[in-house]
Amino acid sequence: MTEPLLQVRDLRVAYGPVQALRGASLNARAGEVVGIVGESGCGKSTLAAALIGLPAPGATVSGEVRIGGDDLLALPEPARRRLRGERVAMIFQDPMTAFNPVLTLGDQLIDFQHRLAEPRAAKRGRARAMLARVGLPDPDLALHRYVHELSGGMRQRAAIAAALLMRPPLLVADEPTTALDVTMEAQILHLLRELRGEHQGAIVIITHHLGVVGELCDRVYVMYAGEVVEEGTVEEIYHTPRHPYTRALIACDPAHVAQGQGHLPTIPGRVPDLAAPPAGCAFAARCPLASARCATPPPRHRFGPTQVAACYAVAP
Ligand SMILES: Nc1ncnc2c1ncn2[C@@H]1O[C@H](COP(=O)(O)OP(=O)(O)OP(=O)(O)O)[C@@H](O)[C@H]1O
Ligand SMILES: [Mg+2]
Repeated sequence: MTEPLLQVRDLRVAYGPVQALRGASLNARAGEVVGIVGESGCGKSTLAAALIGLPAPGATVSGEVRIGGDDLLALPEPARRRLRGERVAMIFQDPMTAFNPVLTLGDQLIDFQHRLAEPRAAKRGRARAMLARVGLPDPDLALHRYVHELSGGMRQRAAIAAALLMRPPLLVADEPTTALDVTMEAQILHLLRELRGEHQGAIVIITHHLGVVGELCDRVYVMYAGEVVEEGTVEEIYHTPRHPYTRALIACDPAHVAQGQGHLPTIPGRVPDLAAPPAGCAFAARCPLASARCATPPPRHRFGPTQVAACYAVAP
């Protein structure tokens, strides 16, 4: 097998006393779409920021984020900035984040190509083609627009165009459809599904929505309280989830709940305080299978070549 395009090793990120990521390891190969799922506050956006080499100012970071061999976290900022855009680009939940409100979309999409030694007309042509590709109805007009003049769905399409413009081998999307209404969400998922076939690199999709994972991903990492508690193929995670947290997430997924049941089940209890995380399994306090041994860190059990779960109770 080829070397993974993205290799994250023992990534730790703290905001003062808050240990948002507590030793996450994951990888993604070219051509693969990898999902990261977990409840609010489990460290997904913290991971996304580290993947593009942009941790929040003041955050304490350790571990490795290798993209095509280079450890992004070990590089000085100018080199990191160069890799961002060339090797990795991000699609945010709020597409406005990607744009400058005082420039037209066309000027920005041309600026994003500043490293290419090409005439402006060629860059404009590439921008136009990319806007057409992501489904903006009148790309020539869109080039003259300011981003706030576009609807939410069109803005997210434009942000996807911006991310893909330089053909980065790694694309990271943090909750790309969460801010959209159901119709727009379906359209953007459809677009991402089409693009996944054309994009030669790896895509990492971060979401709290299992439906998005099922639609788009090959493999999934399930995060809980700053750790990866289970990984596997989409098939494995949906059909033979091993970790009690993964099972609970799936049981609460609207797609798995019988119609007309009235209300959605939720996982009882709450996420532990990340300023004082438990020494053992972080899910133990909410887990139906917990016992005394869960007070020490659980082993990572392997259930085949692709599935791993960190839990005492589900030994293979
Ligand atoms: N810039 C920051 N400064 C301080 N604490 C932060 C910062 N960003 C995140 N946190 C804290 O780190 C933890 C993880 O947050 P993060 O945003 O990574 O979670 P998330 O999984 O993306 O959640 P959501 O699903 O709500 O987007 C939370 O406890 C959060 O309050
Ligand atoms: Mg987030």
